[in-house]
Parts: sequence; structure tokens; C-alpha cells
Amino acid sequence: MDQQPERRTEQRTGRRTDAATSGAAGSGRALSPADLIRSDILAMSAYHVPSSAGLVKLDAMENPYPLPEPLRAELGRRLAQAELNRYPQPDYGALKAAIRARLGVPDGFDVLLGNGSDELITMLSVATARPGAVVLAPLPAFVMYEVSARLAGSRFVGVPLTADFKLDAAATLAAIAEHRPAVVWLAYPNNPTGNCFDEAAIEAVLRAAPGLVVIDEAYQPFAQRSWMPRLPEFPNLAVLRTVSKLGLAGLRLGYLAAAEPWLAQLDKVRPPYNVNVLTDVAARFALDHLDVLDVQAARLRADRDALLTQLSALLAARPGCAVFPSQANFVLIRVPDSAATLQNLLAAGLLVKDVGRMHVLLRNCLRLTVGTPDENRQLVDALRASL
Ligand SMILES: Cc1ncc(COP(=O)(O)O)c(C=O)c1O
Repeated sequence: MDQQPERRTEQRTGRRTDAATSGAAGSGRALSPADLIRSDILAMSAYHVPSSAGLVKLDAMENPYPLPEPLRAELGRRLAQAELNRYPQPDYGALKAAIRARLGVPDGFDVLLGNGSDELITMLSVATARPGAVVLAPLPAFVMYEVSARLAGSRFVGVPLTADFKLDAAATLAAIAEHRPAVVWLAYPNNPTGNCFDEAAIEAVLRAAPGLVVIDEAYQPFAQRSWMPRLPEFPNLAVLRTVSKLGLAGLRLGYLAAAEPWLAQLDKVRPPYNVNVLTDVAARFALDHLDVLDVQAARLRADRDALLTQLSALLAARPGCAVFPSQANFVLIRVPDSAATLQNLLAAGLLVKDVGRMHVLLRNCLRLTVGTPDENRQLVDALRASL
């Protein structure tokens, strides 16, 4: 799932009181959603995904390459055998074993599965929302850390990154000491900035945090660095991953690796059968052919580096412009007017993400997903024309 600033909880006026609700009930009139729904939810905007019809879709960090045709045909045959009349196997034993074996989960560690890593973020948020609980993340970051924490009833503390998007280790450690967060979220690489935070700074966070530190490795196939092998070193470390960016965004499958005592508790808030049988079959099939997805990821890494070079040549010398380093499958750039550039790119048939209003550090920034070489060429040409 992509991140949308529109989805952030907004502190608006129009707060309603329980008296209003009880008044409605007392008067005998039927209660409306406005009477019943929590005021913070009434004040939110629903998740908005812009239409990509007819556009080159470079807004959501998807892999642009489908599975090769022979594999799709074989997958079709496997899916036809799936027992749609039955609930999924409740323990997802075969799928979990395939994930552990193929995706580098250390011996002695298991995974919890989610309907996308989004659902695992929700589960973690719900399970840790004790009265007064705090959730902490650097900002800007993936917006669902904050949205989920607030929806679950926790207090969210955001610690600004430095101007060049590094983790501000001193400020983060001070905030940890002050707020004693139940959960610290660190995306590695970070979305929407694209960089991996300094390893020593993360280690310091792991040692200082009184609660769980979740390292979200959604973009691991493009960074090729991971904290997964270090799970045995830190009892408060959990590693969150998804198959979305690898090329399987439509499956909706995420996994969380952590020590057993954490998973045992988190499993209690997992909705029953949260991963459907078609996802189970398709994910196991894809993991049997992981080499194909790995080749696609390698191609995207090379194309990202080529795109970074071209964007640097185009933007580096222009006033108000910048290109930021990326270890993900997207590139963050700054232009003089991100809203105007977005419109120009749309007019040229390209959909990217304007993150310019998400956070003050991101002013006039656009996030560009790496596409096929032809799509990347169209993007650079359209940017050149726009600027
Ligand atoms: C850092 C990060 N984590 C998690 C997600 C959610 O991924 P999904 O729900 O598709 O597994 C995203 C999506 O953009 C992301 O950027």
C-alpha cells in the first residue's frame, strides 16, 4: 500500500460530545454515523488513491514487470486447484516454512503473517496500545506508523530527521529517554526519503529503547541490506517485510520476524484467516521461483542507479532542485514547485507522488518510482520539458 498524507489524522474542530450522542438517543431519533463514530475518525479523510487510468504508474513503488508468461500459466493451474470452499490452513505452516527458508529468517525465529505489512502495523499498534503508551518514529516516515498508533489510542511522537534525512541520533535517544516508547518504527530504507539510516545510530536506538524496535524492510530487495540476521543479537528487535515491492503488491502479504514471545502475543490480535487461500498458493508458488523476482529486483537496482545519474545531470545545477540518494526502488527529488511539476507530468501521461506537503523537510519534493527503462526515459524527458 502506498502512503497518503491525506490519510493522516487531522486535528480539526467540530469535536462532538457524548452528551450529543445521549441527547440523540434520549430523543428517540435514530443515531447517525456522526453520532456514533469517534470524533477523531470523523475528522479524518479516507485513504485516497488517485486514478492511474491511462497513465504511466510511477506513484506506488510497484515492480513494473509481471511474472513471465509460462509461470503465469502454471500459477493459473495451481490457483484453479485451491480449495476456495475451505478456510485457509489456520497455521499457514507451509507458507511460513517457505518464507523462513527462502527469505533469510534466522534459525529459531518464526514469522507472523499479515494481509500486507499494513495489517501487521495495525496488529502491533493495537497490541501495544496500553493506557498512556507512546509510539515513536522519525519523520518524515511511512504515514501508517502514526495513523495506526493514533487509531489504536496511543500517543505518537515524531522526531524530525536532519535536513539531509539522516536519523538525528541525539534527538531520537533523548526522545526515547523522555517518552519511553512501547514501539519505535524505523524504515530501512526509509519511505519517502529512500535512504538507509546509519547502522551505529540504529544500534544505539536498539540498546536504548525500552520496548520493541521494528525495522521495516519493505524495500530490502533494492537495498540488499538487512537486520534480519541480527535478530538473535537484540531481544527487542522485530523485522517487518512485505512481498509488495518485490513484485507481488496485489497479493497483499507481509511478514514480521521476531522472538517467539512477541509473536505469541501479537498473534492474539491477528484476525482469523487473515491471509486468503489464493494468496497462500500464489506466494508459495512465487517463492519457488524467487530467482525470477530477484532478477527483476537486480534490473530495477541498475535502472534506479541510471535514473539517479540522469536526474542528477538534469537537476543538480538548477536553483531550488535536488536529487537525494536512494537505496530503494524510488527516487526523491526537489523541484521549485512540486504541485506544478506534478501537473506537468500528469499532462505528459505520468503519475508520480507529490510529497511536498507531507512534512516541512519535504517541501516541493516528488517521489518517483523506478519503472522500466522506457518509462524512466519518458519521466526524465517530461521533467526536462517541465523545468
Ligand atoms: C516503509 C513501508 N512499509 C510498509 C508499507 C506497506 O506495504 P504493504 O502493505 O503493501 O505490505 C509500505 C508501502 O508503501 C512502505 O513504504
